[in-house]
Amino acid sequence: MHLGANVRVNKIGIGITIGLICLFYLYSHRGPAYSSIDNKDVVSMKALLAGAIKVAQIGGLEVISVHDNLHSLNLASKGKTKEGVNDPVTAADYRSHCAMYHALLDAFPRITVKSEEKSIGCDKVDILDLKEYLKNPEPLGINYDSAVNANDITVWIDPLDATKEYTENLVQYVTTMVCVAIKGQPVMGVIHKPFDNKQTYWAWVDHGQSTNLHVKTPKKGKQPVLIVSRSHAGRVHNASKSALGQNVQVVSAAGSGYKSLEVAVGNATAYVHITAIKKWDICAGAAIISALGGKMTPLSGPPPIGFGPEDDTLLSTGLLATMNDHQWYLDKFYTA
Ligand SMILES: *[C@@H]1O[C@H](CO)[C@@H](O)[C@H](O)[C@H]1NC(C)=O
Ligand SMILES: *[C@@H]1O[C@H](CO)[C@@H](O)[C@H](O)[C@H]1NC(C)=O
Repeated sequence: MHLGANVRVNKIGIGITIGLICLFYLYSHRGPAYSSIDNKDVVSMKALLAGAIKVAQIGGLEVISVHDNLHSLNLASKGKTKEGVNDPVTAADYRSHCAMYHALLDAFPRITVKSEEKSIGCDKVDILDLKEYLKNPEPLGINYDSAVNANDITVWIDPLDATKEYTENLVQYVTTMVCVAIKGQPVMGVIHKPFDNKQTYWAWVDHGQSTNLHVKTPKKGKQPVLIVSRSHAGRVHNASKSALGQNVQVVSAAGSGYKSLEVAVGNATAYVHITAIKKWDICAGAAIISALGGKMTPLSGPPPIGFGPEDDTLLSTGLLATMNDHQWYLDKFYTA
């Protein structure tokens, strides 16, 4: 009899305990836009996307403010790139880096962030409180969210893509970029154009994209239009002609972010790069193109490009990005 009473009491006790746990769970999961924002080890992917978009835009504001004050355009030389083009580092580059890198790391301290620049003079740059912003961010129009271990996340940022063109006032090519890779695979890309149309283009593989990414369905029998780097256009024009014939249409442009977008929306059918390129230049484009159903690979084909924390920051095997007929282009360049 005593035993029976004990069991009953325990049952009530267990019931109360479960009830309290449920109440505590609901209580601790109320309120802020993203449930895991205060847990540093687990990252809300939706919060990270909203944060990535925001920092690309604030990086863009730094780039514009330095440009508007041209006299302070402080050219320092990073040395010559392999192609012999002078690769200037500007005050804008550093300021944008500071604003983007530190805002992200303050809000998501356990993720790995890889930036093209180092933190120099960041005490002179106002750093946005991204955590505060994320309590009430611009809506993305995505209901889905997922929680990912901070250890598995590598964010690649390019605080100013097309630096050379920026100093030449060819600002239509300039972008700021943020890319999120999980276990080395790019899943979110943000490309912001601070000057040209002040638009931010973004996509999250399988979950959504910005409304300005209008993807054209290719016309049957559409001729290839290659987009290539204007800084070593001669060599890549030649390579493209031997691969696809003398009459192939080749457009020269600057900025990997710019060229990736042209392919993503169908203004060009392939982005071809034949020399070495850094991963922060290509990660956001890779994510956007992949989210829209296209591919970015080395020009030599597989293995895929790794964007993990331990992966080499340099891709030296050339690059091909397409929305359609990827293998066809690879074969053409392989046999050329
Ligand atoms: C491109 O090809 C032409 C004609 O074959 C050649 O004269 C020129 O040097 C080549 N340019 C480069 C940059 O390889
Ligand atoms: C693609 O081409 C259209 C029409 O020329 C242009 O308005 C647009 O800016 C281009 N690029 C992108 C990324 O939409």
